[in-house]
Amino acid sequence: MWTEGYMPVQMLIHLTVMMAVYVGANYFLKKIGKGIPAFPQAILIWLGTYSYFKFAVAPPLPSTLLYTFMGLVTIVIFLFISSTEQGWTDFKRPILGTLMAVNPMYKGVRTFSFVVLPLLIGYGTYDFNVPKFDEPIDLRTVHPAPPASTTVRGQNFTLQTAQNPYRVEDNGEYMEPGHEKKYFKSNVFEPNAPKYLQYVKEGGSIFFQNCHFCHGDNLNGRGMFAFAFVPIPANFVDPGTLAQLQETFVFWRIAKGGPGLPTESAPWASAMPPWEEHLTTDEIWKVSMFEYWHTEFFPRTWE
Ligand code: HEC
Repeated sequence: MWTEGYMPVQMLIHLTVMMAVYVGANYFLKKIGKGIPAFPQAILIWLGTYSYFKFAVAPPLPSTLLYTFMGLVTIVIFLFISSTEQGWTDFKRPILGTLMAVNPMYKGVRTFSFVVLPLLIGYGTYDFNVPKFDEPIDLRTVHPAPPASTTVRGQNFTLQTAQNPYRVEDNGEYMEPGHEKKYFKSNVFEPNAPKYLQYVKEGGSIFFQNCHFCHGDNLNGRGMFAFAFVPIPANFVDPGTLAQLQETFVFWRIAKGGPGLPTESAPWASAMPPWEEHLTTDEIWKVSMFEYWHTEFFPRTWE
C-alpha cells in the first residue's frame, strides 16, 4: 500500500479526503439541527489530525516534524475559528463558561481542570520519577579476602608464600621488611643506584605509562580520568590502602583488576583494568614496588 516516494502525495490525499468527509458530516448535522459547537469542533479536528500523523502515517514521522505539523494545524484552526465574529464568540463561550463556572456542569469541568487534573499530573510525574527498586544495602568490601593462589600469565602464585623477586638487596637476598626505608629519599636516576632503586625506576615508567591516568601523578587517586568512575581509583597515599596490604595482595589486584574481584566487592563496578592482559608478571611486581617506594609505605607482612 505504501509506495516509496509517494508518501507526501498520499498524505495530502488522505488529509483532503478526511477534510471532505468532515465538512460533509458537519453540513449534514447542521441540516438536521445537531451541528457541533465551535470549541469541540476545534478539539476534534486537532485530535483527528494528530492521530493521523501519529498513528496512520508510515514510516512514523520524526517527533520534531510532528510537532511542527501540529503547530501549523493549531494556527490554521485558530485562523479559521477567528475568521468570523460569530465563530470566535462560539469558541470562547465554553472557555469563559468554565472560568466563571456559569452552571453546575461548567463548575464540574472547572474543578476537574484546575484541581483534579493538576493533582493527577503531579502524581504521574512523581510516579514516573520515583525509583521502583530498593537501593543496595550491602556496602562494598574494599579489601576482600584474596584467593589462596592465583594464576597470572600461566604461572601459579601462592599468595601466602610468593615474594616480589625485585625487592632485593644488592647481593640478591630478599630485603628484610622495612629495610627499603633507607632508599625512600634516594635519587632513582643515579647511574650507580642500588638494584632496588633501579627496579623502582622501571616500575615508575610503567606507572606513568599505564596507571597515572586514574591513580594520579602523586598516586593520590586524582588522575585526570578519576572522577568518571564509581568507585574512584584507590588513593595510595592514604594509609588505608597499600600500607594495609601484603604485596602479594597488591600483585593479585593489579593482575586481575575489577573483573577479578569476588562478589562481596560488588555491587559497584570497579574500573580497575586486569593488567595481566598488558603487563608481564615482572612488570606488575616492579610497578607495585614503585607504588610502595613513592608513598613511603611498607607492604604488610604475614604475621
Ligand atoms: C581506568 C582507571 C584505572 C587505571 C588505568 C588503573 N587503575 Fe588501579 N584502580 C582503579 C580503581 C577504580 C580502583 C578502586 C576499585 C578497586 O579496588 O578495584 C583501583 C584499585 C587499584 C588497586 C587496589 C588498591 C586497594 O586498596 O585495594 C591497586 C593495587 C591498583 N589499582 C593498582 C593499579 C596499577 C598498578 C595500575 C597501572 C598498571 C592501575 N591501578 C591502573 C582504576 C584504575
